[in-house]
Amino acid sequence: MQESTYYGTYHHTTPEQSETIRSELRVAFEEVFAYIFQENVIEKVLDAGCGLGFLCEQAAKFFPKASVIGIDLFGSNSLPEGDLKIAEKNMQIAGLNKRVKFIKSDITKINFQENYFDLVISSLVFHNLGKARYKAYSKIRDILKTGGFFVIGDFFTPEDKETLKGLFSMTIDKGNINQMPTQYSIIVLKKINAKLS
Ligand SMILES: C[S@@+](CC[C@H](N)C(=O)[O-])C[C@H]1O[C@@H](n2cnc3c(N)ncnc32)[C@H](O)[C@@H]1O
Repeated sequence: MQESTYYGTYHHTTPEQSETIRSELRVAFEEVFAYIFQENVIEKVLDAGCGLGFLCEQAAKFFPKASVIGIDLFGSNSLPEGDLKIAEKNMQIAGLNKRVKFIKSDITKINFQENYFDLVISSLVFHNLGKARYKAYSKIRDILKTGGFFVIGDFFTPEDKETLKGLFSMTIDKGNINQMPTQYSIIVLKKINAKLS
């Protein structure tokens, strides 16, 4: 029997609700990936807070030239089943293990080269970070190339949106996603200048 991928049960949801959320988010992320793909070659992708690799799979399938790195604490409250080995197994099952790699790391302490990634993606992660998320947004900006995109799906406060607008150019704010609370949206941000004054 063919094995299936398993992306876990999110905090405060049942397994069925988590599956429903993922099927809605797949559709929504695909729409924004299509927008980015129009004019851009996407080769280096980071999934910040990748969990068991849900968005890594989607990005690797959507951007056929991309190498994807997923980073996560693996095993925090918001996805207690988080486990790097299960994430790797998922990518094997999806036939993506050559292009998707995982690193156990804290996104508030990431240490990648500056101006490196074409795309950083993330879903349901930054709201877990408390105030540290503001510094993390700025670190994401540093590791993106100029012209690169940050696609983040999360529960945003007005302060989050103001901070993000100060760091990036906001091109899409896609709210009203089926099954998701109203504060959830997928925001597409573009790094437009190398240095902020
Ligand atoms: C709700 S899960 C979402 C996982 C995945 N993005 C998805 O959509 O299936 C949130 C993830 O963020 C991770 N996370 C939370 N704080 C983190 C941190 N400081 N550094 C890295 N990962 C973190 C958790 O371990 C968990 O896997």
